[in-house]
Amino acid sequence: MIRTKILGLGSYVPERVVTNEELAFLDDQHVRQATQQTETNDAWIQQRTGIRERRYVPNDSSVCTSDLALEASKRAIADAGIEPGDIDCIILGTLSPDYHFPGTAVILQKKLGIADRTNCACFDIRQQCSAFVYSLQMADAFVRTGMYKRILLVGAELHSHALDFTTRGRDVTVLFGDGAGAMVLAPMETDDPRAGVMYTSVRADGNGVNDLNLKIFEIARMPYLDYDPKDREQNAIMYPKMDGKRVYLNAVRGMVMSTNEALAKTGMTWDDIQWFVPHQANLRINEKVAEVAKIPHDKVLNTIEFYGNTTAATVPLTIDHWRQQGKVKRGDRILSSVFGSGYTWGAAIFTL
Ligand code: ACO
Repeated sequence: MIRTKILGLGSYVPERVVTNEELAFLDDQHVRQATQQTETNDAWIQQRTGIRERRYVPNDSSVCTSDLALEASKRAIADAGIEPGDIDCIILGTLSPDYHFPGTAVILQKKLGIADRTNCACFDIRQQCSAFVYSLQMADAFVRTGMYKRILLVGAELHSHALDFTTRGRDVTVLFGDGAGAMVLAPMETDDPRAGVMYTSVRADGNGVNDLNLKIFEIARMPYLDYDPKDREQNAIMYPKMDGKRVYLNAVRGMVMSTNEALAKTGMTWDDIQWFVPHQANLRINEKVAEVAKIPHDKVLNTIEFYGNTTAATVPLTIDHWRQQGKVKRGDRILSSVFGSGYTWGAAIFTL
């Protein structure tokens, strides 16, 4: 039978490290050093979120999301031992696209130097923090039906240009960082029903729309971008809005549910699985999920303390981070569980 194999993995984060202390002194428009803008502190952030630092693209840079995606993709493609020209499908997840349209996948295709390839499909998906499992499910279906043979799956986010660096936005701003993660997926012939991508499941509940969103663009309005950039109060619509407590409760519930369902549906136990890689929204969410779902502590992999929440990128970035540290190895089986705005959530079991 045909199963989906992870042929390559790669990630990229910008070099600029922004500590919790530094966050209080960033300018809200250009992410420059300024006099104190935000009343926040390291102790609050660490205690509530587990985050110590995150990465931002350099000040005043012209770097965009597709550039972060490009670096992670190049590394995943090299790891797979193939050339960019071998890719016949790109699935890119982001909530911080280069433009409103076209999607960022076609921009990545151009930057990879394969834009003249008419046989490379490009999809953008909009499932935010759940993008990894959603795109893995799509890629797995494409591979197993023979639709595409070398799929580049990418999650990339440039959050630092769209955060509110004033006290008003501090609950959201402290959580997010810039980064990207990528995988190359391909078919393999096997008799082993547990090989490769073994299981994916995704869910959604549109009742969560107002709990976490960014309404800078609203097609119902005319003009649909309706703000005065000089008006600080109006500027609020340019930034994400979140009901943190509702997101916390729904995230724990969704991730526990999808994790338990993944084990029940595959007949697996934690003895069969080397690593649990949850979406990196908040260390406290992941600790609660591990406690309620009874996940062995030493199997849980986090990177939120170093990178914050990189939304669509967190899962491949976390796996690649711990692979570079020598902890995760080829052949390890991973259960990943995600939750994001929408609400959307899901889980996957796969072998690296
Ligand atoms: N620094 C200092 N003080 C802060 C900050 C900050 N960055 N942010 C909020 N506060 C203050 C509040 O103003 C409030 O002050 P008050 O008591 O004087 O009114 C106090 O801290 C407590 O605020 P709460 O909002 O009640 O804090 P809470 O305990 O709910 O923690 C948090 C906030 C960390 C956002 C929490 O709700 C949470 O983790 N929610 C999950 C959200 C999440 O992880 N989202 C990620 C994106 S979605 C995803 O990826 C799935």
